[in-house]
Amino acid sequence: MESLTLRASPSTAMPQLRLPGRSRRMACVRASASSNGSGGAGEPDLSVTVNGLKMPNPFVIGSGPPGTNYTVMKRAFDEGWGGVIAKTVSLDAGKVINVTPRYARLRADPNGAAKSPIIGWQNIELISDRPLETMLNEFKQLKKEYPDRILIGSIMEEYNKAAWHELIERVEESGVDALEINFSCPHGMPERKMGAAVGQDCGLLEEVSGWINEKATVPVWAKMTPNITDITEPSRIALKSGCEGVSAINTIMSVMGIDLKTLRPEPCVEGYSTPGGYSARAVHPIALAKVMQIARLIKEEFSDGQSLSAIGGVETGNDAAEFILLGADTVQVCTGVMMHGYPLVKKLCAELQDFMRAHNFTSIDDFRGASLPYFTTHTDLVQRQQEAIKQRKAIRLGLQSDKDWTGDGFVKETESMVSN
Ligand SMILES: Cc1cc2nc3c(=O)[nH]c(=O)nc-3n(C[C@H](O)[C@H](O)[C@H](O)COP(=O)(O)O)c2cc1C
Repeated sequence: MESLTLRASPSTAMPQLRLPGRSRRMACVRASASSNGSGGAGEPDLSVTVNGLKMPNPFVIGSGPPGTNYTVMKRAFDEGWGGVIAKTVSLDAGKVINVTPRYARLRADPNGAAKSPIIGWQNIELISDRPLETMLNEFKQLKKEYPDRILIGSIMEEYNKAAWHELIERVEESGVDALEINFSCPHGMPERKMGAAVGQDCGLLEEVSGWINEKATVPVWAKMTPNITDITEPSRIALKSGCEGVSAINTIMSVMGIDLKTLRPEPCVEGYSTPGGYSARAVHPIALAKVMQIARLIKEEFSDGQSLSAIGGVETGNDAAEFILLGADTVQVCTGVMMHGYPLVKKLCAELQDFMRAHNFTSIDDFRGASLPYFTTHTDLVQRQQEAIKQRKAIRLGLQSDKDWTGDGFVKETESMVSN
């Protein structure tokens, strides 16, 4: 039998009810005017409330370098980010050993001219290599200083129920508002059944999600890998096993290139490399497709406020608008912050508000999911086009020649040539 847990939300001190296997998205509470994206009088309102988490705007720092320590997370809150997802933590950071260089970039110019814009970013970075206790103390400090701001702990562990339970308990104790489960790290430690090794195996995912949801008392988002044939399969399993939301996408498996002088792949560590994870602008269209698929899944099969946090190549307010038009509740940014810095959130908010103003949208709810109904199958596109051509031809026929007038269809034929 499912158990009910009454918990005090660390951010609001309001008791909240978490029903394992169920979730709810509280009604959108309008925020008052502020410098971090909420509208002033007459301004489009960017505030969102997702799984009970209230944010001044939908922009969330995606797990990665922009959420690695107290100083940078504090900076994110100060600049006005709606929420922060910290760099993924595990019980034993001692097992996490990073290499350098671990990033490689793709520029728009085919010859890689240094000034041409960066469109793709590859990393072979692992999860946080900082001791868990240090990270937890920093989460506590941040929640003390920013009690009303949303801090989400990103977690990943080995295939071991006790380890997952211990990690969840310790991270929750630090006061985080929610958990994001890293089922999607594309490189490193698959032999320990971590990250994408779980997200790519629906059997493992179901079991591990079950462990997580029987323990967690705060909302849980399952972060999905795009490196799989059908992203809706693991998403469905995660939601069915009680996760309140899905985040997508993590990075796409990639090899950034080969140095044509040395003939070695990049990024090159002591002459060797390993496939990494691709992010930034180049992945945005792929992320849109995955987010669209998950949004349809949630719309068609789940009705309990299950949420969607979209990630991938966001650098402008318009990129974010696209994700929200597909049904995203929040929009995460990782590489964009690495390239443009924390003040990017101000530009994102302003541009999203410009988009809303142009359409007379006053809140995020006004347009969330508005573009989703316009996706269909290719077969349906063919039928629609054939029907449209038939109709256009029928109209043209009426105009073609005086010899085409008939007695019976005279009025209809006349109407077909009237312009209004
Ligand atoms: C250098 C780097 C490190 C990352 N580390 C993590 C991580 O620790 N945990 C995680 O869930 N995602 C991690 N990610 C993935 C991002 O959170 C995000 O899902 C992905 O990069 C796509 O979004 P973006 O184009 O906005 O970066 C990392 C990404 C980058 C570029």
